[in-house]
Amino acid sequence: MPKSIVVLISGSGSNLQAIMDSIDSGRINGRISAVISNKDGVFGLERARNAGIATEVLDHKQFDSRKQFDAAMAELIDSYAADLVVLAGFMRILTPEFVRHFQGRMLNIHPSLLPKYKGLHTHQRALEAGDSQHGCTVHFVTEELDGGPLLVQGAVSIDPDDTEESLQQKVHKVEHQIYPLAVEWLCADRAKWTSEGVILDDSNLGERGFQYQQN
Ligand code: GRF
Repeated sequence: MPKSIVVLISGSGSNLQAIMDSIDSGRINGRISAVISNKDGVFGLERARNAGIATEVLDHKQFDSRKQFDAAMAELIDSYAADLVVLAGFMRILTPEFVRHFQGRMLNIHPSLLPKYKGLHTHQRALEAGDSQHGCTVHFVTEELDGGPLLVQGAVSIDPDDTEESLQQKVHKVEHQIYPLAVEWLCADRAKWTSEGVILDDSNLGERGFQYQQN
């Protein structure tokens, strides 16, 4: 049976779009049951509505605490019987209770080659460090911010004339390849996080996850 996917966003939703496209093309054995945003009026909600996907807005500012917001969010996600929760530019720090509830079935994408550059301003930090490579990572979500086990990484080279903006564009392009791939694997029960580490088919991917090569 196709898996139920719930996508959480706070913004433009280009990763959401990439996943929607991959479902349409038949690559992902799943359906997006709902797109939930903590901000109204963002473009990602429009993308979902245009595709006939249910949308929900849960505004964190309407809650007295992070804990209450996360509890309401978990309840909402559960109402869609989510097999997989996909964080796609969801700009909220999550409580341990929320993370534990969805552990093993919640993914995030982060614009760096983790464990490098957790947190914000990753492109700028990679440039300032004089790195020759940068990229993005899909990982399972744990209580540690951007710290969960890595599933797949895609690298880009940093060229001498790269700016923060050009680098961000390059990385975004790879994000749109690796996130659908990760969702495809989970929906097909090919990838999972076990006590031994992250497994894809019968291989243990090791600490850095699958190293994706752009075609
Ligand atoms: C991406 O850069 C992702 O890595 C980060 O948030 C951004 C979301 O972009 N977590 P979009 O909304 O999918 O376009």
